[in-house]
Amino acid sequence: MGTIGVLLVARVLPYLEQELDKRYKLFRIWDYPQKAQLLTQHAAAIRAVVGNSNDGADADLIDALPKLEIVSSFSVGVDKIDLEKCRAKGIRVTNTPDVLTDEVADLAIGLTLALLRRICECDRYVRSGNWKKGDYKLTTKFSGKTVGIIGLGRIGQAIAKRAEGFNCSICYYSRTEKRDSNYKYYPSVVELASNCEILIVACPLTDETHHIINREVINALGPKGFLINIGRGKHVDEAELVSALQEGRLGGAGLDVFEDEPVVPEELFGLENVVLLPHVGSATVETRTDMADLVLGNLEAHFLGKPLLTPLV
Ligand code: DGY
Repeated sequence: MGTIGVLLVARVLPYLEQELDKRYKLFRIWDYPQKAQLLTQHAAAIRAVVGNSNDGADADLIDALPKLEIVSSFSVGVDKIDLEKCRAKGIRVTNTPDVLTDEVADLAIGLTLALLRRICECDRYVRSGNWKKGDYKLTTKFSGKTVGIIGLGRIGQAIAKRAEGFNCSICYYSRTEKRDSNYKYYPSVVELASNCEILIVACPLTDETHHIINREVINALGPKGFLINIGRGKHVDEAELVSALQEGRLGGAGLDVFEDEPVVPEELFGLENVVLLPHVGSATVETRTDMADLVLGNLEAHFLGKPLLTPLV
């Protein structure tokens, strides 16, 4: 398959990049600071695009690649791919579901514990060399709290299962009530936020879920409430979040994702009631390797005319 052109639009696991390079004619978008040059010289050779949660295939890129057959994302979220355009043009789309569910759910719980028990702040305190006998801050108990989850898909359910292990009560919001779930359902995010102590965002980013965490939701969660976001930065109105944290209208926030990654609002850096991570929900060796294998497997299946492993479109 060495003559098939694959365009890599994002930095991925080195193993994946090396395998793509071995198997295909690989074009790395960053080798072409002038995108126009890449497109004029190589557009006709490119039959696949590989991206990730931050860089996918927008309408312009899709239109510029007349031979494009498949977009394979090294991520479960596909909000950076113009799915409608792909559908309209018969371009296949694949992502990496399931293999990262446990990792992202683990991180959601890890972020929650880090935030409530102020683990990062305590670590900074000890590292400062200023630990004084008897000097410590009281933190917040996680066990037994009410956890509200936005989105009860694979990841949302895995978070719920873990939180149940901490004797938490689980409630959720999703577009429709899940018939097979015993968790309490709220038909609006504001109602969910008013009735939980920890609110976890675990839904895909769509037009409907953009800024699903707004001023009203933050105020409903309140000064004793905690927000955890392992979804997408654009789920949260970040300006509203920053002012709520500064004004003490929200108890704290644990964030793995930001509106304009890798840019993080500087105001957050000075706050102790936040835990900030660089979008590492699925970033373990094991899971990223499984994700890479899914990308490779999907491309191979496509170019051999076999069924895709994880078809989305
Ligand atoms: C995904 O796969 O969409 C995640 O955001 C990556 O961590």
